[in-house]
Parts: sequence; structure tokens; C-alpha cells
Amino acid sequence: MDFKDVIDKRRAVNFFDPEKPVSDELIKELVEMAAKVPSSFNLQPWSILILKDNDEKMKLRKLAWDQPKVSEAPVVFIVLADRYGWREGHPLVERNFSEMVQAGSMTKDQHDWFINACKGLYGETEEKQQAFACKNTGFFAMALMFAAKHLGLDSHPMDGFDHDGVRKEFNVPESYWIPLLLAVGYFDEKKQLHPPKWRKTFEEIVMKFD
Ligand SMILES: Cc1cc2nc3c(=O)[nH]c(=O)nc-3n(C[C@H](O)[C@H](O)[C@H](O)COP(=O)(O)O)c2cc1C
Repeated sequence: MDFKDVIDKRRAVNFFDPEKPVSDELIKELVEMAAKVPSSFNLQPWSILILKDNDEKMKLRKLAWDQPKVSEAPVVFIVLADRYGWREGHPLVERNFSEMVQAGSMTKDQHDWFINACKGLYGETEEKQQAFACKNTGFFAMALMFAAKHLGLDSHPMDGFDHDGVRKEFNVPESYWIPLLLAVGYFDEKKQLHPPKWRKTFEEIVMKFD
């Protein structure tokens, strides 16, 4: 699908076709496509839990304002943002450094500089840790929605859930924040999509502080 079509046609849909499951291959393709997004220092602090089982989805639905799409969608992602994905010794941080050395964009003796830069930018306060985790994971989540549309799927992002309840129910470690849930599936063509929602204009988006 042309990118403009992806942008124009992506909607937060409420109705998924219960007769049309999403194959594991397609889920993999979707996730791998979305993983191409940029991230701070390429640290990629996102992960997902994939829920397909009905009982699991019902458990989640109970913690997500009883929103029917949580159990009706064939797949729901619990999107995770690693608040500590900038720390020295974190496997992905160290792997990322090795990859940069291998690729020639850093030298081995820059390890301390790299770790201190990550710490200074993302680790000094809880607010910075949260921002690091959620801004990067937000890009990933958006890409999941665009990639889904490209692949003929639809999606629905959700904030309406009990964060700590979901953390507890699905044994999510404290290091992760859960920025959103994402329902994914095929739109139920028997249902009507609401008209597109309003958007801020260019003039409303652009600001100037004197
Ligand atoms: C982070 C985020 C959280 C959202 N949470 C919910 C939610 O819990 N329930 C819901 O029905 N819609 C939710 N939405 C959907 C928005 O209401 C929807 O994206 C917006 O109204 C624009 O509509 P559109 O996506 O169809 O263009 C959420 C959207 C985002 C980006």
C-alpha cells in the first residue's frame, strides 16, 4: 500500500472479524517491519507480549475497562518500554556498543563515553528514564499500526487499562512501563467505520514563543 494510503486509511477500529485469525508468520512480518524505526542510540527499548489465547485476552479485557475489542481482536500486544534500557551492563546496551564497534562507528575505548552519554541523557532522573522508554517505544508502536495497515490488517491502540493490574496479571517486571495495548486483526466488514476524526490544522500545530 502506498504510504499516503497507509496514513489516510489507518484508523483505530473497534470491530475485528472473529472469523479471520492472524497467522504467526504475518505477526512476525509486522513486528519485524515495525522494528525498523529509529531509536535513541539505536537502543530499541521496546518489547511486546503477544496474546492470542481467549482466556488470556479475557483476563486483559477485565483490566482494560472491559473494552470488547481486547478479546474480539485475534491478537493483542501488550507493548513494553524498558526504563532501564540505557544502563551499563544491560545486555542490549552492551550488545549495541559491540555492534557499533563492529560497524566502525565507535571504537572500544569509547565505552565509558557511550555509557556516560546514555546515563546523562536518559538515566539521571525517573522522568528521563520514563521519557526514554516511552518516546522510543511510541515510535515502535506507531510503526506497528502503519505496518499493520500496509499488511491489510487494522489496529487499535489503548490507554484505557489498569497499568499496575496488567503488570501484575502478566508478570511484567518492574523495569518495564506499559505505554499502551494494541489490538490487531482484520476489520469486520459487516460493521461501519466511524467517519475520520478531526485533526489540528497546520496553524494550530505550529507555535511561537516570544
Ligand atoms: C495512546 C493511545 C491510547 C488510546 N486509548 C484508547 C482506548 O483506551 N480506548 C479507545 O477506544 N480508543 C483509544 N485510543 C484511540 C483514539 O481515541 C483514536 O486514535 C483517536 O480518536 C483518533 O482516531 P483514529 O485513530 O481513528 O484516527 C487511543 C489512542 C492512542 C494513540
